[in-house]
Amino acid sequence: MLALLTFLNAALVLLTFEAFILSRGISTAHWTEKYFESNQVKVECGGPESPSSHASCEKDFTQKPVSMSTSLALVPFDEGRVLPHEKTVREFSLAGHVFTIKQDWNSLGVAAVVWDSAVVLGEYLVMNEASVKGKNVLELGAGTGLTGLVAAALGANVTVTEREEALPNLRATVDQNCADKSWVISATKLDWTQPVDDSDFPAVDLIIGADVIYIEETFQDLLRTILSLAKSDQTHVLLSCKIRYDRDLRFLNLLRNHFKVNEIFYDKNRDIKIFSVVRFS
Ligand SMILES: C[S@@+](CC[C@H](N)C(=O)[O-])C[C@H]1O[C@@H](n2cnc3c(N)ncnc32)[C@H](O)[C@@H]1O
Repeated sequence: MLALLTFLNAALVLLTFEAFILSRGISTAHWTEKYFESNQVKVECGGPESPSSHASCEKDFTQKPVSMSTSLALVPFDEGRVLPHEKTVREFSLAGHVFTIKQDWNSLGVAAVVWDSAVVLGEYLVMNEASVKGKNVLELGAGTGLTGLVAAALGANVTVTEREEALPNLRATVDQNCADKSWVISATKLDWTQPVDDSDFPAVDLIIGADVIYIEETFQDLLRTILSLAKSDQTHVLLSCKIRYDRDLRFLNLLRNHFKVNEIFYDKNRDIKIFSVVRFS
């Protein structure tokens, strides 16, 4: 009888322990998502979503097969489940090329991860190759430069631009992806807070900007930069973004004082819109 009671007691302890571990496992995963949502992206980007997360053109090579040790673990744990911004390398297949993008969220934050807007705008350029090929394209706030690289692969003459701090990473990404290509693409500094020297960027046909509408404090500087670069209706501007807050709409309204602004594309899955922006003639 005593032996039976001891056995039942031990079984009860084991079951309680396993239930505890399982509940911890679930809540830890939940906490990780919440932490990312509330503490990391929101602080700088104002967005509750992760950087590029549903990219259909992306090969997720961080997914690892479940190892023997993993399968023996008490708690099901998927080692490969890494949030998009945490991945150090990502690959995107666009315009018939595979783009390898190194990410460095911890050091450079928003400028060194690929955002959904960049992928959607890249896909849009692929669908509208004729409007890119042979054109002088300038990318604002290029980050990792994925969209500019796609434009270059489509035959555009591209200048990807960024703030001083983000420029070395952008240059490295461009160099890595263009090493064996004859694409025309260069990376240069263009900080919206500083006046634009027109002579640095002559005859721009197309300005592209992915997820550059995100911090209200930058809106006036961004508007002034776009006005300096798009002096006439000969320069077309394409902005892709997720409308996260009312302030994002306020920026579009600021643009409407000077430009015709039209939503021309919507990616429902990723909730990303593309706006065509053309100066009043
Ligand atoms: C949300 S990230 C988007 C990056 C990239 N376009 C993408 O979609 O993957 C916003 C970008 O705007 C850039 N940015 C912010 N303020 C800027 C400024 N004053 N001048 C130039 N770029 C700026 C950031 O460095 C960052 O790369």
